[in-house]
Amino acid sequence: MADRLDLSGRHIVLGLSGGIACYKAAELARELVKAGATVQVVMTEAATHFITPVTMQALTNRPVYTHQWDPREANHMAHINLSREADAVLVAPASADFMAKLVHGRADEILSLLCLARPAERVPLLVAPAMNREMWAHPATQRNVAALRADGVSVLGPAAGDQACGEVGDGRMLEAAELRDELIAFFQPKRLAGQRVLITAGPTFEAIDPVRGITNHSSGKMGFAIARAAQEAGAQVTLVAGPVHLPTPAHVRRIDVQSALQMHDAVMPLAAAHDVFIATAAVADWRPVAAAEQKLKKDGSGRPPAIEMVENPDILAVVARLPQRPYCVGFAAESHDLLRHAQDKRARKQVPLLVGNLGPATFGQDTNALLLVDEHGHRELPQADKLTLARQLVAEIATRLTPPTR
Ligand code: C5P
Repeated sequence: MADRLDLSGRHIVLGLSGGIACYKAAELARELVKAGATVQVVMTEAATHFITPVTMQALTNRPVYTHQWDPREANHMAHINLSREADAVLVAPASADFMAKLVHGRADEILSLLCLARPAERVPLLVAPAMNREMWAHPATQRNVAALRADGVSVLGPAAGDQACGEVGDGRMLEAAELRDELIAFFQPKRLAGQRVLITAGPTFEAIDPVRGITNHSSGKMGFAIARAAQEAGAQVTLVAGPVHLPTPAHVRRIDVQSALQMHDAVMPLAAAHDVFIATAAVADWRPVAAAEQKLKKDGSGRPPAIEMVENPDILAVVARLPQRPYCVGFAAESHDLLRHAQDKRARKQVPLLVGNLGPATFGQDTNALLLVDEHGHRELPQADKLTLARQLVAEIATRLTPPTR
């Protein structure tokens, strides 16, 4: 993450119930503070067996609450005071027992007491389950999870993998950075709620022979940032990615492809079922007519082999001409005369919104600047990190959409 302070101004009550995943709560507290939040830690007695309040206090710069009769609260109402100040309560780890208590409205210690006492309509509750896989899979736990969801609680994770007990399965708490990002996403305005968004990203790779090919410097970062921003905004996102080395944004469906033809073949059956199509991929304009089956060798003549090229389909232009077309957003990576080229490209591809950026300046970088061109004119989104720009672009797209009808 660049030095964006995505949780700036947010006050988070971070609750810890008992479980080995408490060790991850230290890192989580640090990540939340680094993202700009103030963090008030509240621990159950069981949690203090796994990590000390001293550690959590040092990381958050605030004394930790461990019981409801805390003498620091003059009115003896820590549960009221703490929950009224919070923008959200995040319980991480949430043990099976703690979730069972939440379901039943039990309030026999400070953390469950404050969860019950919080004004639910303005202080959301998020829980990150952490437990052995058998405990997670148990029908009692699954009933409790369903009941919590029905009560409006957000359940984050759990992940699958190695467990402290030596077993492998569902029940691991999400990692600290994942939980931080879930919380950041939670606070983003849901401008694309109910919308389905299809995005292409990255370069394509056009094979010449089994070991060589034609590609470009696109890193995929802008497209991946847009996928994350659209997901944060409540959209259901499908990301068709060329060969890039980037992690998939949370809750995004990813389809990996290599060539322009594969990207075309992945996009076409999906396009009409989406409300928005954002083509950020730097698709190769041409490909070798056929990739040689064996590596092309020098023949000693000094003449390079002739590689016959053919034009690739223009995925964006094809989607933009579908009778049931989604709202189409194109990208133009130019080296000069950005506005003119972006306007020309918008007209040529017949898309309502074209986003220009300076290719050489942005490829592989963490920052960018965008120029939005539509039927009314143009607007600049000045230099910023790509996720910030992606969120601004998503907000711009949202204002141009009609609410979903399906
Ligand atoms: O024609 P040009 O490559 O400059 O246009 C760029 C825009 O068109 C981008 O949105 C890109 O993703 C899309 N495009 C495409 N298929 C191609 C070429 C470009 O979808 N074959």
